[in-house]
Amino acid sequence: MERFSQWQSVYILFFYLWFIIGICFCGVYVLGFVKVAEASEVPSGKMKKVELEGKEILIVNLDGKYYAIGNKCTHMGGDLSKGSLSGNMVTCPRHKATFDVTSGKVVSGPKFPLSPKIKDEKSYKVKLEGNDVLVSTE
Ligand code: FES
Repeated sequence: MERFSQWQSVYILFFYLWFIIGICFCGVYVLGFVKVAEASEVPSGKMKKVELEGKEILIVNLDGKYYAIGNKCTHMGGDLSKGSLSGNMVTCPRHKATFDVTSGKVVSGPKFPLSPKIKDEKSYKVKLEGNDVLVSTE
C-alpha cells in the first residue's frame, strides 16, 4: 500500500526543497553581517579599529556613511587606525601610503626606498541597523 501518490510525493519534495533553500538564503542574509560597533563609537570624520573573525578592520564614518577596509597596511602591516584621515583618504602612520577608505584602493605608495607596488586593502560591505554598525563577513 502506497502512503503518498506520485504527485503528492512531488509536492512534498518541492516544498521541502523550497523550505531548505529559504533557510539557506535567510542564513546568508542575516548571518552574513556582524555587529562590530555602535554608531556612536565612530562619530563623523573618525575611524575605529575593530576585530571580525580574527581580522583587523578599520571602520570609518564619512558624513554619516560608514565604510570598512582592512586595518593592517598592505606594505608592512602598519596600523591604519593610528594614521590620519583626510577626506576619504587614510594615511599609514609608518611610511605614509594612502588608501581610499571608500574602496580600499591604494592612492599613493609608501615613502620608503625601493618599495614594491603594494596591494589594495580589502573592502567590506557595511550597513547600519539602528545604532548598530554591521560588517559583512564575506
Ligand atoms: S607599513 Fe604602511 S606604508 Fe609602510
